[in-house]
Amino acid sequence: MSDSIVTLIDVEKSFGKNKVVKKMNVEIKQGEFLTLLGPSGCGKTTTLRMIAGFEEATSGTILVQGESIENKEPFEREVNTVFQNYALFPHMNVFDNIAYALKIKKKSKEEITKRVNEMLELVQLKGYENRKPEELSGGQKQRVAIARALINNPKVLLLDEPLGALDLKLRKQMQVELKRLQKKLEITFVYVTHDQEEALTMSDRIAIMNEGVIEQLATPREIYERPLTKFVAGFIGESNIFDGEVTGFYNGIIDVVTASGNMRVKGTGFNVGERIHVSIRQEFIEIGTDSVEGFSLSGTIKDAIYMGTVVKTAVELKDKSEIKYSRFEKDDKFSEGDVVNIYWNPERAVAIKAKN
Ligand SMILES: Nc1ncnc2c1ncn2[C@@H]1O[C@H](COP(=O)(O)OP(=O)(O)O)[C@@H](O)[C@H]1O
Ligand SMILES: [Mg+2]
Repeated sequence: MSDSIVTLIDVEKSFGKNKVVKKMNVEIKQGEFLTLLGPSGCGKTTTLRMIAGFEEATSGTILVQGESIENKEPFEREVNTVFQNYALFPHMNVFDNIAYALKIKKKSKEEITKRVNEMLELVQLKGYENRKPEELSGGQKQRVAIARALINNPKVLLLDEPLGALDLKLRKQMQVELKRLQKKLEITFVYVTHDQEEALTMSDRIAIMNEGVIEQLATPREIYERPLTKFVAGFIGESNIFDGEVTGFYNGIIDVVTASGNMRVKGTGFNVGERIHVSIRQEFIEIGTDSVEGFSLSGTIKDAIYMGTVVKTAVELKDKSEIKYSRFEKDDKFSEGDVVNIYWNPERAVAIKAKN
């Protein structure tokens, strides 16, 4: 508890009858980079706005450094926010935009100049102080927004899809810059994105949200390798997910029957007859003509799609469902129309409890 800087206890938020955040419990640690990741409308921005104090929770408690956020005036709060649309003052130049919070606090001219210069250096915008926002690129505007948010030395920086408006190349570059900045300053970042790759590359921990609920809160590796729910498995990476029933198990390997056929998956704690989901990543799918013990998935190769670095191939199974597998190069052994068996190393597949 002592190293947590932001704590959410049973936090809920409703707009009218619409409950958009449900029983949320999170402890965000000092200095951590925590990402809220989920599809549009799942409640990420609302959660961030409650932490910022812009929005009041319908029930539950939010503590920042052990104190309730609502009791503090906005300028006293240790949190600051960076928005996707930058929210810069269009009529002010870069210097005045960054200096704004210190001017409000009536700091001396010397101190303001010193701090703004430090910030300009930090975000690599020295020489741009007299430009107006309209004279900056998207990436530069976002750097000004970050400098402006950091000048108050916040303990926590909230970032709502801050790179969402940038093109792919610039976004990748800014991801690296932001992560470096966060490490250097040792500030806690609470970062919102709907981009799974961004979340995986930047975060210490990721909270995967779905319809107002955190489905899993864990490190990127755990989320990627051990998704806890069907939703997480489907949202992160590119997996094939089957619904089935446990028919037996032996030595930590479970036999599963699905509408597409039989399959095996590593896992424990399941009972015969129990409903289960099996998730298998596209890159772990094997195809061949031999039959493999425990598997009865056969299908017809459909189209192969070239994706730049990988080739993805779809196979249509007996029940008309499709499975996709990916390779770095086109598999020349098989071509469209071939009938193949599909299998995998059961250790590579993930067994997920079905919700009742
Ligand atoms: N001020 C508001 N009034 C009514 N409904 C809102 C308001 N803000 C957000 N919502 C609704 O709450 C849900 C979650 O929104 P939001 O937190 O913005 O999601 P996200 O940021 O994950 O896309 C959405 O259904 C949205 O329409
Ligand atoms: Mg949002």
